[in-house]
Amino acid sequence: MPPTTSADFDQAYRLPLTPWGDFRVPEAIKTLARRGSPRRSLELGCGVGRFTRYLAREGLDATGVDFSSVAIAKAKAAGPTDHLRGSVDFRVGDVTALASSTTLTGPFDFSFDVGCFHCLDAAGQKAYAAEVRRLLRPGGIHLIWALDEGPAALRLTPAAVKRVFLDGFSLQDARPSRRRIIASHWYWLEKHGGDPIRQVD
Ligand SMILES: C[S@@+](CC[C@H](N)C(=O)[O-])C[C@H]1O[C@@H](n2cnc3c(N)ncnc32)[C@H](O)[C@@H]1O
Repeated sequence: MPPTTSADFDQAYRLPLTPWGDFRVPEAIKTLARRGSPRRSLELGCGVGRFTRYLAREGLDATGVDFSSVAIAKAKAAGPTDHLRGSVDFRVGDVTALASSTTLTGPFDFSFDVGCFHCLDAAGQKAYAAEVRRLLRPGGIHLIWALDEGPAALRLTPAAVKRVFLDGFSLQDARPSRRRIIASHWYWLEKHGGDPIRQVD
């Protein structure tokens, strides 16, 4: 059984290596960070925090949230913060209930998730979308990388993701990917009501 609960993920993160956890920062995240002049970023399901730390090195005030306290402890211990041009803020929290599990406040200029959304059941997906809507600035992008067949056993397609984010977002792009050699997509969701930056590289 793939991990889905915080206890499952805690157990996985106690091992020296997990089956996920790219050392390379995906191009989509680099592209997102280059658009406009973002100051604050939010990563949902950040694990040990490699991508959030990358963004802090690039000068952003970068926040990462994960419900595994073991992963967040590793993220915090990952290295000194004095060489970062921006700042890091790692928090334990449930992405389906950030208002009650953290004291996070928006607005964030962009947010993203590599491999967390596909762990959620249908109710969790809806709650997650509401949290992103609450925390992201109008016109901001939320980027998701998700397996087409994730651990939650819900098939994810562009139409399914569009339905989850119907309230307050447009699906700007859904790009098929073979990241980790498995069928997956990068989803670019734009929150309504702002001054969007249109181009997706
Ligand atoms: C496949 S891992 C990916 C971790 C990291 N993004 C990476 O690419 O290395 C999925 C992550 O989502 C986290 N996660 C799953 N469900 C969550 C939830 N409801 N709230 C917060 N984090 C969650 C897990 O603890 C895990 O760190």
